[in-house]
Amino acid sequence: MIGRLNHVAIVVPDLSAATALYRDMLGATVSIESALPEHGVTTVFVELPNSKIELLHPLGENSPIQGYLDKNPSGGVHHLCYEVADIIAARDKLVSGGARILGDGEPRTGAHGKPVLFLHPKDFCGTLIELEEA
Ligand code: CO
Repeated sequence: MIGRLNHVAIVVPDLSAATALYRDMLGATVSIESALPEHGVTTVFVELPNSKIELLHPLGENSPIQGYLDKNPSGGVHHLCYEVADIIAARDKLVSGGARILGDGEPRTGAHGKPVLFLHPKDFCGTLIELEEA
């Protein structure tokens, strides 16, 4: 069911510093900053030949990643995003298998303008998984 690894997301305490690190030290191509108020994050995408890295920083008062940053002040790997062909079919299969979908279970529009869902980390080896319809 899952396809390509779309991105690995890293929560960072300083988005400009992290962007500069990837661009200048690691020599990667980076996007401009993009604010996603609906998700409570600001993102920068690092383009790799075979995937992407999503740099995440909290945006607004109730950011869902603020708690993560409080527990991990220097940042850390936050989630993996796998592509699926049909997000509703994927969700229904997962739910019927007993997996929990975060939130109300309905896909939301993600960072690339495509529908996304998050799966409960306790159901997937302690890893937060984002599914993105590709
Ligand atoms: Co993501």
